[in-house]
Amino acid sequence: EVFTQLKQIQQKGLDELQTVRDEASLQAWRTAHLGRSSAVMQVFSGLGGLDKELRPQVGQQANLVKQALEGAFAERESAVKTAALQQSLASEKLDVSLPGRRRPQGRLHPATQALNEICQVFVEMGFQIYRSPEVETDVLNFELLNIPAHHPARDMWDTFHTTTPGILLRTHTSPGQIRLMREAAPAPIRAILPGMCYRYEQTDASHESQFNQIELLAVGKGITFGDLKGTLDEFAVRMFGEGVRTRLRPSYFPFTEPSAELDVQCFLCMGKGCNVCKGTGWLELGGCGMVHPVVLQNGGYDPEVYSGFAAGLGPERVAMMRYRIEDIRSFWANDLRFLEQF
Ligand code: PHE
Repeated sequence: EVFTQLKQIQQKGLDELQTVRDEASLQAWRTAHLGRSSAVMQVFSGLGGLDKELRPQVGQQANLVKQALEGAFAERESAVKTAALQQSLASEKLDVSLPGRRRPQGRLHPATQALNEICQVFVEMGFQIYRSPEVETDVLNFELLNIPAHHPARDMWDTFHTTTPGILLRTHTSPGQIRLMREAAPAPIRAILPGMCYRYEQTDASHESQFNQIELLAVGKGITFGDLKGTLDEFAVRMFGEGVRTRLRPSYFPFTEPSAELDVQCFLCMGKGCNVCKGTGWLELGGCGMVHPVVLQNGGYDPEVYSGFAAGLGPERVAMMRYRIEDIRSFWANDLRFLEQF
């Protein structure tokens, strides 16, 4: 009779386990069928009241039932856990075994790279970086640079004017010379002024309506044209390599006297002549000269005591030569096929 009872306990337990589908009912089942007050445990605690001969057999049988229930529970438990995982994978659509997605990586614009490199060289030579605004006044962009209204020299810079009279987009970084001098006077200056300039020009392969310039300015006592030439030569060597020389050709700017165009020896053929320098052996880099006495005065320096030199370099030209970019309009056309090459 005890044996029939044990069989029934086992059967009932296994039957009820079939309906268990989740963690909560698993635990409830365990308490009911394997807990302290479960039927099988009561058989164990009732063993003492049985006949001596019967005890080992009943005990053994009860153990088998308990083991069967425990085994079935373990199996069911893992089945429920697997089902729960499947369910969450299906509903949350998160596969943690998938490889990560790569973020597209940006890079610096080729013009910015050239700009940074030139700045770096001058910073190493002891020049400080000075920032001045891209939206400028007519007074600073022209007048104080010795270019009066209606003077024919204004034709050298086709200008974007704004609807506010006297406010324009700077055509060069030179107005920053005045700003810096007025801040620094009478202290000596050794600085570069990098940034974007704008010109209202018919664009073609070598003309664009916006481009970077790096203005160079040194003001102090006893600064000579030799210092300008020496500084540019040192720059050329540090920037383009040992043995690269510079050449100055006479020119005209209203804010420098004397003025010159700056050429640097072609760093590809070292002056022999190739298709990048169009057979001349030289590459044009910008304008330069000794700061005009009127400009020194406008900046707050006495031209009888102080002198200085200035230059304006074009970083896009460096990038064009270096990468053999044939059309300057590629820089700001925003074509990723072009930009991703650098
Ligand atoms: N500002 C001149 C230009 O843009 C370049 C220049 C700068 C020339 C400094 C001389 C001295 O054409």
